[in-house]
Amino acid sequence: MDHFTVVASPARQRTECAIVGVYDSGLLSDAAKELDRRQNGALARVVKNGDVRGKLAETLLLADAAAPARRIVLVGLGKREQFARKQYRKALAAAIGVATKTGAREAVEYLSLEKMPDADAYLRGRAVAELSANALYRIPDLKTGKKPPTPALKKVGMALADRSERHAAEKGLHDGKGIAAGQALMRDLANLPANVCTPGYLAQAARGLARAYRSMRVQVLGEPEMRKLKMGALLSVTAGSTEPARLIVAEYRGDPKAKRAPVAFIGKGVTFDTGGISLKPAAAMDEMKFDMSGAACVLGALKAVAELKLPVNLTVIVPACENMPSGRATKPGDIVKTMSGQTVEILNTDAEGRLILCDAITYARRFKPDAVVDVATLTGACVIALGSHFTGLFANDDDLAEQLLAAGDHADDRAWRLPVTEEYGEQLKSNFADFANVSGREGGASTAAAYLAKFAKDLKWAHLDIAGTAYLSGSQKGSTGRAVPLLVDYLLNRQ
Ligand code: BES
Ligand code: MN
Ligand code: ZN
Repeated sequence: MDHFTVVASPARQRTECAIVGVYDSGLLSDAAKELDRRQNGALARVVKNGDVRGKLAETLLLADAAAPARRIVLVGLGKREQFARKQYRKALAAAIGVATKTGAREAVEYLSLEKMPDADAYLRGRAVAELSANALYRIPDLKTGKKPPTPALKKVGMALADRSERHAAEKGLHDGKGIAAGQALMRDLANLPANVCTPGYLAQAARGLARAYRSMRVQVLGEPEMRKLKMGALLSVTAGSTEPARLIVAEYRGDPKAKRAPVAFIGKGVTFDTGGISLKPAAAMDEMKFDMSGAACVLGALKAVAELKLPVNLTVIVPACENMPSGRATKPGDIVKTMSGQTVEILNTDAEGRLILCDAITYARRFKPDAVVDVATLTGACVIALGSHFTGLFANDDDLAEQLLAAGDHADDRAWRLPVTEEYGEQLKSNFADFANVSGREGGASTAAAYLAKFAKDLKWAHLDIAGTAYLSGSQKGSTGRAVPLLVDYLLNRQ
């Protein structure tokens, strides 16, 4: 997908598809009015006839319009007083969705000309690039029948009020494209079935990135190395599986001051979570192929960072394995020694994410990171607390928490901070080991975070629980690409 900017009025700009808006009072946007004059009032008429009412993201296609626009997508913008970045993104996504179903190879969107209190030309450009790439995303499915035709749309232009916006808009288009490329990688990996996307497959994906981009080094550790490192917690999760576990370590060094302390992103890479001996119920268990979404997310962020050549140092660590029941599987009550030396009583083998993450956090210490952010589909409790709207954010450092929250807001990939205080850590008391891996159901997202916090002492650390945001269920089942935009935005602000 390519992008460009245009400063001309839609009354003069030739295009295969013009995207213009109408507010819910029936008021055409200024751009729509200008275009309407060249269409002999066709736009005003469809509004008057009640064919489109201006409800936010409602669309109407005029497939055979007059020059200079071959087609027009008229999209509802909702209430004019309420029009802001969020509404812009919704309307734009809907309109581009319609454009992809036409024969248009190119489109120009004029919604970016509307007044919005919270989006400058840069953020509007980012929205155009991200949303058009996401509209073209297709799941790499294994259907054998005839494939639906791929959309003709190859270029989306963004209208600017004047030339002075061009620089910022083009930077936004550029950054948005990089973010979208990272999201597409996350979605591709997470959408794959667990019999294809194994720990070894994730390792190959990381190696592929190192081949494609400079300034990147990838190292993959196997189980013998994990034993040498005394990663007893990670090894206890993979114990029941015949698929070998991997610890994937990717180092991107883009900072001209090469020695500057890196940021470490750690992603939960459970390629399938059956629950182990604490077996999950059968209903919707297939969705546990998405339990490597944290891994896919940090690899996606890594790809975006490399694509954008950000001048930052980033270390990505992915502990990857399956959680399976078997004669060799870990049993409830088993006690293991983590790489940190602390012992854990595994009361529930389904609380496996924290077990692989804790050893990865300990491993991250060797990079002397400036900040550590882990990303994981960690708890059903987080889904109950926040639903699919917000990622759960936990942190032992207020500045880091603020930066991540701000990045999520800026990138329209929001997080909500939840507590991770000592009280939650105390809930993990064990009579037999330093602590247990679970406590009761109360505050489940926070007790999981508090478990991780025991391994992040003296690190600047945050944890993103993406269990509710990383993928959709039901007829829309599939990876969302979240929280790649949040993570990349955070790094964009560290340049
Ligand atoms: N991968 C799950 C968390 C999960 C649940 C993600 C639902 C997405 C949707 C995790 O490994 C898990 O099983 N967590 C348990 C923890 C419990 C045993 C303390 C959970 O949330 O039920
Ligand atoms: Mn589990
Ligand atoms: Zn899990």
